[in-house]
Amino acid sequence: MSADRVFCVYGSPLSELADVASGAVQVSPLVPGSQALEDMAPGSLSGAVVAAPPGTMERRYGLALALRALTPGAPLTALAPNEKGGSRLSKELESFGCTVSASSKRHHRVCRTVRPAMLDDAALAVAIDTGGPRFVEALGQWSQPGVFSWDALDPGTLLLVATLPPLAGRGADLGCGVGLLAAAALANPDVTHLDLVDMDRRAVACARRNIRDKRAAFHWADARINPQLEGLDFVVMNPPFHDGGAEDRSLGQAFLRRAHQILRQGGTTWLVANRHLPYEGVMKTSFATVTLRAEAHGFKVYEARK
Ligand SMILES: C[S@@+](CC[C@H](N)C(=O)[O-])C[C@H]1O[C@@H](n2cnc3c(N)ncnc32)[C@H](O)[C@@H]1O
Repeated sequence: MSADRVFCVYGSPLSELADVASGAVQVSPLVPGSQALEDMAPGSLSGAVVAAPPGTMERRYGLALALRALTPGAPLTALAPNEKGGSRLSKELESFGCTVSASSKRHHRVCRTVRPAMLDDAALAVAIDTGGPRFVEALGQWSQPGVFSWDALDPGTLLLVATLPPLAGRGADLGCGVGLLAAAALANPDVTHLDLVDMDRRAVACARRNIRDKRAAFHWADARINPQLEGLDFVVMNPPFHDGGAEDRSLGQAFLRRAHQILRQGGTTWLVANRHLPYEGVMKTSFATVTLRAEAHGFKVYEARK
């Protein structure tokens, strides 16, 4: 194989389940700064390990893009927890023309194949088309399978949009998704600048398409640490959550600490979160005042003033 071909890894596969070549290039859209599989030329990859994402369209899209970029004969290992798409991996790879050998370990399905000389190009094209960005009527926005609430309005987002007061000055939307909160913030003519931050490259790309506003700046970044911001008048956020587990709680709490750090004295955070998530305590230890502004459909909206 040519020396300039690269090995890629998608996500963070458990090391005991798959061998990732040293120097592998990260291609997950959830890792800021990673390369985009979409941009990789056919035949440019010497091998790939894909920790396949849980959504069917998102997973088939990633597998199809990886197969398109692999050179014929190059190895592909795809793995996923059994309950999160693993049980479907073999069939999905076979539908693209691969011959698969599958095993199970640590509640994961691990599928090994090589990129065949002939792929099912039609199946690949459908997967790439179906998993790509598109205009979603229900949102009135560009979106993509895999991004947060990609094809339906989130009730938490809606509650925060309905509760927001007129905003003014410089602000940030931490975890902006495709930009629904940001659009609501920018509807205020007194907002002079808004930084939209998300760790998901696809979400930031959609937000750029959705928000055509000179006051907006877009950042593909981990909002807990980047970009460098200070002295803001307001922050809006619907912090990430999946199942309300410990990881979610600490992520939401880190978002709140970051919001506190980047606000000016007297600046305000507007937050929506699942009612059961314990954010009030963190807010009360750092913010001067914390006020519950709305509660509905299992969500709470807080205003926290620094
Ligand atoms: C609950 S969604 C909210 C999206 C959007 N603000 C809305 O209300 O529709 C949370 C967002 O945070 C993003 N996210 C998760 N972890 C992040 C991190 N560490 N830094 C920045 N964004 C993150 C997710 O990709 C997701 O788009």
